[in-house]
Amino acid sequence: MSKNKLFESVEIFDIGSKGQTIAKSDEGIVLMVKNGVPGDIVDIKTYRKKKNYYLGNIVNYHSYSKFRVDPKCEHFGLCGGCKLQNISYDYQTKLKEDKIKYSLNKIFQNVNINPILKCKDQFNYRNKLEFSFTDNKWLTNDEIKKKNNDIDRRGIGFHKAGMWDKVVDIKKCHLQEEPSNKIRIALKEFAKKNNISFYNTRLKKGLLRTVTIRSSSLNQFMVLVQFFENNEKNISLVMNFLKDSFKEIYSLLYCINNKENDSIYDREIILYNGKNYIEEKIKDLIFKIYPKSFFQTNIKQTLKLYKIIHEFSDLSGNEVVYDLYSGLGTITQFIAKDAKRVIGIESIEEAVISAKNSAKENNITNVDFEAGDMKKLFSSEFISRHGNCDLIITDPPRDGMHKDVIKEIIKLKTPKIVYVSCNPSTQCRDLELLKDTYDITKVQPVDMFPHTDHVENIVLLELK
Ligand SMILES: C[S@@+](CC[C@H](N)C(=O)[O-])C[C@H]1O[C@@H](n2cnc3c(N)ncnc32)[C@H](O)[C@@H]1O
Repeated sequence: MSKNKLFESVEIFDIGSKGQTIAKSDEGIVLMVKNGVPGDIVDIKTYRKKKNYYLGNIVNYHSYSKFRVDPKCEHFGLCGGCKLQNISYDYQTKLKEDKIKYSLNKIFQNVNINPILKCKDQFNYRNKLEFSFTDNKWLTNDEIKKKNNDIDRRGIGFHKAGMWDKVVDIKKCHLQEEPSNKIRIALKEFAKKNNISFYNTRLKKGLLRTVTIRSSSLNQFMVLVQFFENNEKNISLVMNFLKDSFKEIYSLLYCINNKENDSIYDREIILYNGKNYIEEKIKDLIFKIYPKSFFQTNIKQTLKLYKIIHEFSDLSGNEVVYDLYSGLGTITQFIAKDAKRVIGIESIEEAVISAKNSAKENNITNVDFEAGDMKKLFSSEFISRHGNCDLIITDPPRDGMHKDVIKEIIKLKTPKIVYVSCNPSTQCRDLELLKDTYDITKVQPVDMFPHTDHVENIVLLELK
């Protein structure tokens, strides 16, 4: 079949990965399109063939889904974030719940899954956003139609869906409380006025590369500007502008990164003003968040997430617990008062130092932390140092657990595991390896990221 074909009156029936929606032709051909809503009846024109499906565009709507709503954001459809904003929130969460049911039922029989925990606030729920500068912003259809060659292509915003080198200039983002938008817009205007160059991804030049804005429920803000070049004069201009214009910035930082990728983990972070961290409160615990440390991005849902982890752990006070992928030691400390001892393992050194310090400041004495790569550190040598454990809590990154870590867990035969995941497909892959040794006894999906296809899932495993 040619890659360009028209499929008429097909129904969108599901959401796929990366925010695509899925339809199927009468002959069973899978079609992936953007901005559809399950229940829409549409005509689709395909433009690319992949191994098991075709990519296409909706060219005509016969009828709209009853789950379709007007997106709040003016950038919907272009910006790579919030791809489900045109689907009612109730239906978004049902789709996420179904995704978990479908994945788990492929491997396990009769798994009972609790209803997903929804978010009360569906906007301004994030405490961290990273915006990219560009001197070649993505043009909207209106801008293209105007055929105006004088358009200023400098912008700052998010990548266009699936395009690492295309940035959509964002006027207003609804994901983070103010002054997030104010800081970004003011910085853009200041840089334009002062002829400070914006980064060009293809040519690899330009001073301003990214800005990350972190906030906390204690009303503290961190701003980290990433520069591509070491231009002291212009760096000072930018940083002074931020310092003088936004007194509410609690932690003002920058770094210079002339590498190919914009990850900051191997960069020196320079403190320009204020503190080199911001603080966040979870229940009565205070945590210091440093620029390189992971911290849960939706603080209100984090409390719900941690309460479920605590409940699934069902601690009596006598247990030794391993908290794998412990970040700033937030789960470690959240459950510590009900356990005998909790040991956290985390690869980011800065996070481990901060976890140790915050435990002291929070007067928690029965915890310990070690820094290192899980697959190397979590070994029989580690177990002999800390003793066997009664419970493992594991909260790995999106890639899931390394198979060596799973092998070690199976060897340990720990009675219970609480597996927290932000990626149901890697979680299922890992659970499949554990299924001969463990039964799944509880499952609780939690929606941490409204309008995205991401979903968090907590699974309780008990030794057979
Ligand atoms: C999803 S976060 C969970 C953090 C923490 N449990 C929380 O609730 O904030 C995953 C953590 O795993 C850490 N990590 C990633 N790869 C790792 C590895 N190979 N070994 C140890 N830790 C790793 C990350 O730095 C991050 O802090």
